[in-house]
Amino acid sequence: MESALDYHSALALLQWQVELGVTESIGDVPVDRYALQATPPKAKTGPAPVIVKPKDVDPVEQAQQAARAATGLPSLRAALQGFDHCELKKGARNLVFCDGQAGARVMIIGEAPGRDEDREGKPFVGNSGQLLDKMLAAIGLSRDKNVYITNVLPWRPPQNRDPLPLEIAMMQPFLQRHVELAEPDVLVLMGNVPCQAVLGKRGITRLRGDWQQAWGKPVIPMFHPAYLLRQPNQKRAAWADLLALKARLAELS
Ligand code: URA
Repeated sequence: MESALDYHSALALLQWQVELGVTESIGDVPVDRYALQATPPKAKTGPAPVIVKPKDVDPVEQAQQAARAATGLPSLRAALQGFDHCELKKGARNLVFCDGQAGARVMIIGEAPGRDEDREGKPFVGNSGQLLDKMLAAIGLSRDKNVYITNVLPWRPPQNRDPLPLEIAMMQPFLQRHVELAEPDVLVLMGNVPCQAVLGKRGITRLRGDWQQAWGKPVIPMFHPAYLLRQPNQKRAAWADLLALKARLAELS
């Protein structure tokens, strides 16, 4: 019988079974092994086959090559579309590449798409995106005018789990090339994942508000808007960081 399940429903069912503790898939239909005839293994004849092991592929090296070859933002997007070494791609509905104005002075780097971003194919469109827009508006910035936005991971992790170190390492060359091609004046790192990818360290509570230099640009780490939604008492710190960003932009212009 042909399955009526679409890809995403099938994936959700599979994830549900994994949550219930299923560790192995054996087959689509039951097999009555008592009814099977015992057939002795065939004697081997001739020389043993030569097994050629495929050379191990290093996904980080593949990512570096693909990213380096991109000559503009459209070709970087195409390189990501064609990159098959990250398992997250298989479970995502859409590639989430960017939003806002390419060439803007401010480039915001988030963590990874959530459910809403995965559906729409755009970063920061859910609740944390709405807060991000308000934060930017408070200092005269907006994705419609003067901000460019992307994430470290372009595909949604299942159940919004934290990105794995290998996933961050694999996407880092694409992110670095993204920054080179978008040519912002400053980078804003929202939360620990972009701090890991850009600065090679975590600890957002310690890092936030402290200007650093990376990839030839001034960089400011800030609390992620999703964290501010859970911890509204930290909005005061976020406001101080936004003012520091505004002052730095004035200084640089
Ligand atoms: N959180 C992120 O870091 N990025 C998004 O695009 C959405 C939520």
